[in-house]
Amino acid sequence: MLISCIKNRRSIFQFQPKSVPKIALEQCLDAAIWAPNHGLTEPWRFYVIGSEMQWKLANIYAQKRAEKRASPGTENFQSVYDHAVKKFMAIPQVVFVGQLLNTNLVIAKEDYAACACAIQNFQLVAWELELGVQWSTGPILTASETANLLGIDFTQVELIAALYVGYPKAIPGSTRKEFQSVTQYYD
Ligand SMILES: Cc1cc2nc3c(=O)[nH]c(=O)nc-3n(C[C@H](O)[C@H](O)[C@H](O)COP(=O)(O)O)c2cc1C
Repeated sequence: MLISCIKNRRSIFQFQPKSVPKIALEQCLDAAIWAPNHGLTEPWRFYVIGSEMQWKLANIYAQKRAEKRASPGTENFQSVYDHAVKKFMAIPQVVFVGQLLNTNLVIAKEDYAACACAIQNFQLVAWELELGVQWSTGPILTASETANLLGIDFTQVELIAALYVGYPKAIPGSTRKEFQSVTQYYD
């Protein structure tokens, strides 16, 4: 049932050390592109990361994380860096999502909404396939090093999500306020 998939899906932060089958990943991508999008702008772009690229990105991720938490040159910096590389490399599959930019702000806002719908389609189909996803943001998405590595022109495309995908090791709980508390009815 769709409703149970929607309610049971959780953001997943810990993964089993097991790769994501290409066919499953492609089912998620195929679901993503069927998201609603105003004017059929199809503003999403997907970047599927292989292991060689993941290693390069892990070093950008680690550099940004260490810069935020420690002073360069210190033992602590190296320790945060090494831990971050390990953490990033433990993600079975990384997929970046980009939004094609539009100078019209109304279209750009609608396009972001469409990309978010696409990401949710991706997450729901992943969940149905027993895969978990974490939608992550953070400095890796805006780093010029990331743009250079992936060959993305940040004046044309904005990276809006890093999707971390894999078979869940643990499924966290989550809560929501009841819909009645956020809904008003009018006669
Ligand atoms: C736009 C957006 C950005 C997010 N960025 C992050 C992030 O950077 N790190 C993270 O751990 N989770 C991130 N999340 C996931 C949320 O933390 C998560 O959806 C929320 O805790 C609710 O949990 P659930 O997805 O299991 O229901 C993001 C979600 C959205 C929609």
